[in-house]
Amino acid sequence: MDKLIEQSVLLSKGAEASLYLSNWYGRKAITKNREQKKYRPEGLDRQIRSYRTIREAQLLHQAKAAGIATPLIYMVNVSETTIIMEYIDGVQVKHYLSSASKPERREVCLKIGKLIGKLHKENLIHGDLTTSNMILSDQKIFLIDFGLGEKSVEIETKGVDLHLLKRALQSTHFAFWETCFRDVFRGYSLIVGDVLSEKVYEKICEIEKRGRYVEERKQ
Ligand SMILES: Nc1ncnc2c1ncn2[C@@H]1O[C@H](COP(=O)(O)OP(=O)(O)OP(=O)(O)O)[C@@H](O)[C@H]1O
Ligand SMILES: [Mg+2]
Repeated sequence: MDKLIEQSVLLSKGAEASLYLSNWYGRKAITKNREQKKYRPEGLDRQIRSYRTIREAQLLHQAKAAGIATPLIYMVNVSETTIIMEYIDGVQVKHYLSSASKPERREVCLKIGKLIGKLHKENLIHGDLTTSNMILSDQKIFLIDFGLGEKSVEIETKGVDLHLLKRALQSTHFAFWETCFRDVFRGYSLIVGDVLSEKVYEKICEIEKRGRYVEERKQ
């Protein structure tokens, strides 16, 4: 494993992990390594990193089974808290949306909504829905970074998932976030149906109200 990482090029150092561009038996691959966090007690830190590594691999696999494009997993090493996966050659949706035309944006947002709909229909929650965790490749959107995901039937978790995306759109794409979110939600409703989508929508409104209440209490 160390040998493989030595031969790799550091691609990004995120909040959670270091990502290396590597080679897996002749295939371009990504090695995602959750490194030790010194601010956490060692035992707890190991538990968290192992748990998230396992969870990410499981959810990448389950999402693929639900018909969502995700990178293929080549190897999981729980003791080294490392996942080696397929490299997706594409552009982060975050960058794409910033330079796309209005119709292109609409099409991509509709696709995003549909894929979140497929996830939620299978009770899969992503946990970190941002446009950095989506890669556009050959007109297809790949979902990555499932380390904070879970399986849940609750409307609450689905609402939180989409609320997070709404917040991410607001902060990253502030000039056109409203249209984007509307198109995302349209795609979502097409997949999950009106009954569930209305419940989730109400939940998002409730979460926002709660947020405002907390803010007011702080002042
Ligand atoms: N399989 C992949 N193929 C191509 N690029 C990838 C792949 N996995 C991750 N990346 C790139 O590396 C970045 C970071 O990956 P990821 O989100 O999984 O790690 P992270 O530690 O959670 O990072 P962050 O804290 O920034 O979210 C992604 O935004 C993406 O650009
Ligand atoms: Mg990420």
